[in-house]
Amino acid sequence: MIRFYKEKDYTAMSYRAASFIAAQVLNKPASVLGLATGSSPIGMYEELAKKVADGKITFQHATSVNLDEYYGLAPEHDQSYRYFMEQNFFSKVDIPHERTFLPNGLAADAAAECARYDALIDSLGGIDIQVLGIGRDGHIGFNEPGAAFIPGTNHVKLTDDTIDANARFFASADDVPRYALTMGIRAIMQAKTILMVANGAGKAAILEAAFFGPVTPEVPASILQLHPNVIVCGDTDAMAEIEKNHPGVFAN
Ligand code: GLP
Repeated sequence: MIRFYKEKDYTAMSYRAASFIAAQVLNKPASVLGLATGSSPIGMYEELAKKVADGKITFQHATSVNLDEYYGLAPEHDQSYRYFMEQNFFSKVDIPHERTFLPNGLAADAAAECARYDALIDSLGGIDIQVLGIGRDGHIGFNEPGAAFIPGTNHVKLTDDTIDANARFFASADDVPRYALTMGIRAIMQAKTILMVANGAGKAAILEAAFFGPVTPEVPASILQLHPNVIVCGDTDAMAEIEKNHPGVFAN
């Protein structure tokens, strides 16, 4: 089942998304949270930090596993996803640092690191709620469009479109790493709940394709149509194509 929430702006989208994470840790303090980077979830992380500061929720008993990391970037690099998570979430909430996990972008043996990461997720009992953004080519994590869905954590070559989209965070496109380590489709699909956040007109077409088009590895997010419990929180701009062509689907 997919529930779509259309919110008036980024702030409202972030607030809505944060409410699902808050409910998750209230219901199960020792939740395993699958976390994501990108600009889309930043507001949600801010809202969650406020809820922790206000004493409404705690992440003291939670564990986090992130979706992906650039391959070749040190955790201290200001564009690494470890750094992003420290800046935007871990340092602002009370989650124990030793229970925050990301793939190791400096692992010498990428295949061994992928296997280690899958074993880690399994040892945690899988993910309770997985936060996802969506790339404008339909990627989730760094699972790029391709000929097949890749089940396990994998070492992936980024597409030109993704390098181009992420170049804004680097001095130039040349500085964007060409490879990443990403959680695969199996761990994502085994998460009990999927929480996607998407904002801005640039996501409108791909959101419609992902949730109303064919299920195909050419649009990796389309596999989510087969997941039993998906929540999609978007702002009006991101939801524009869905609203135009499938106006009855919204939960709010
Ligand atoms: C990156 C990340 C994805 C993210 C996507 C969209 O490539 N690996 O996890 O969902 O970009 O980013 P944004 O939210 O900034 O649009």
